Amino acid sequence: MKDDFLGLTIALSKGRILDETLPLFDKANIRPLEDMNKSRKLIFGTSNPNVRFLLLRASDVPTYVEHGAADIGISGKDTLMEYNANVYELMDLNIARCRLMTAGIKGKTLPNNRRLRIATKYANVAREYFASKGEQVDIIKLYGSMELAPLVGLGDLIVDVVDTGNTLRANGLEPFDEICQVSSRLIANPVSYKRKLAQIQPILDILEETIRGH
Ligand code: ATP
Ligand code: PRP
Repeated sequence: MKDDFLGLTIALSKGRILDETLPLFDKANIRPLEDMNKSRKLIFGTSNPNVRFLLLRASDVPTYVEHGAADIGISGKDTLMEYNANVYELMDLNIARCRLMTAGIKGKTLPNNRRLRIATKYANVAREYFASKGEQVDIIKLYGSMELAPLVGLGDLIVDVVDTGNTLRANGLEPFDEICQVSSRLIANPVSYKRKLAQIQPILDILEETIRGH
């Protein structure tokens, strides 16, 4: 059952996306009433009484938006590709930029007498990527710290996001192939987008202006 908030509910990811998102909303005069990094709350009122923020795990944002529990949200392209939720992708916010890549132990030759084993939290993306190259692989589903897996024999390769490459290097891994470029996107529930366009459009306009000004 839905609650009785009639305004716009915006789903945000904890962590790095939040840090890069709040300054964008600040430009639209939408500021959380409390420090979202310090509070234990999960719903935050904002300086605009018609807007509230939800604080979620990054991988849960598309689900909240798909089901209409949030009207709009901000999610990495990697997460959107993996979960393939029924949401509109309205805008590339050009934040939290990184690349989805395959990586493995530096200098190690890959086996060619059996299927490769791929350790990743991006199981669907990885399966599709290798299938597009005509390779069948076995996926080992993980939820984090993918860089550890090949070091202890859990998989031949990983699929993970890479930015500076420091995490790979620190663990004796090297990047191989780029699957795609990643940045965060503004997404919308299709029904909310129609019903609440009058509320959503001014926010889109300001975000667009802010991003172009960068
Ligand atoms: P979850 O808790 O749901 O598993 P997570 O721990 O992956 O999410 P973050 O590490 O904050 O959450 O990453 C959120 C998003 O930020 C990713 O989906 C990706 O789009 C982007 N991202 C992740 N790592 C980097 C990075 N090193 N540099 C830039 N962007 C990144
Ligand atoms: C992300 C990702 C990589 C790392 C890549 O982890 O999972 O491990 O960033 O960035 P780099 O190429 O600049 O090292 P994050 O720092 O978000 O920690 P996490 O394990 O909490 O996801």
